[in-house]
Amino acid sequence: MLGIIGGTGLTQLANLEITHRKVARTPYGEASGALTFGHICDQEVIFLARHGYGHTIPPHEVNYRANLWALKDHGVDRVVSVATVGGIHPELIPGSLVIPDQIIDYTYGRATSFFVASDKPVTHLDFTFPYCDAMREALLQAATSAGISLRNGGVYGAVQGPRLETAAEINRMERDGADMVGMTGMPEAYLARELELCYATVGAVVNHAAGRGLSAEGIQMEEIQPLLGEVMSQVRHLLEQLVTTGSAGLCEV
Ligand code: HPA
Repeated sequence: MLGIIGGTGLTQLANLEITHRKVARTPYGEASGALTFGHICDQEVIFLARHGYGHTIPPHEVNYRANLWALKDHGVDRVVSVATVGGIHPELIPGSLVIPDQIIDYTYGRATSFFVASDKPVTHLDFTFPYCDAMREALLQAATSAGISLRNGGVYGAVQGPRLETAAEINRMERDGADMVGMTGMPEAYLARELELCYATVGAVVNHAAGRGLSAEGIQMEEIQPLLGEVMSQVRHLLEQLVTTGSAGLCEV
C-alpha cells in the first residue's frame, strides 16, 4: 500500500476519500497525528501530516521513527514524501518540482535509527543511493503522463532548522554539491531504508535559498504562502496521477 507523508502546505489531500482515521501508537511514541486511511480512485492509501494536522510540530521535533513505523505497521510498503525546499541550483526556481536522487545530511541530535536498543545488533545499512528507484521512476512517469514538468535528480541538503540558513551556509552547501535545502529529508529517508520501505521525495521549491535570486536580501515568508498553494496543487495532481497509473486505468482523474 502507498503511504503519503505530507509536509508544509499539504496537511490533507482533497482528492482522498477518507474511510477512517486512526491514532497510531508505536514503540517509539506517537506519530505526528492520526493516520488518515482512504482511497484515491480505487487505490487504498494512508496519509500522514508530518508536522501534525495543525502544523504544530517543527522539523527538528518530528518523531520520524514513529511516523514511519506507524505507516509500515499498517501495511504501507511504498512511501512518497512531500517536502518544501529552498532552491540552490539555478534551475530550481520557486514553483518548480524536483525528485532528488541524493542527500547530504547536516542535521544533528535526531533519532536516526531503529537499531538502538542494547539487545539489537549494530546495523550499517547500505545507503549509497538513498531513494528507491522504483518510486522515483513511478513519480517521473506520473509527471510525464500528467504533463507536469519536474526536475529529475538533485542533491537534497537536509538541515536542522527551524531557522533558515545564512547566505554563507548556502554557499558552503552549494560547494558541497547540494541543489536544494530542506529540513525534513533526514533521518526520514534512512529510517525508511531501515524498514525496507520504497521511499522517494517530491521536493516543492517554495523559495530561492538564502542569499540567492529573490532571496538575495533575505527570505520573505509572506511571499512563500501564495506560492505554496499553487505548488501543492501541482503536487496533488501528481499524486492523483501516480495512484491512477497504479490502478491500471481503472479510474479517471
Ligand atoms: N531552507 C530550509 N528549508 C526550507 C527552505 C529553505 O530555504 N525552504 C523550504 N524549506
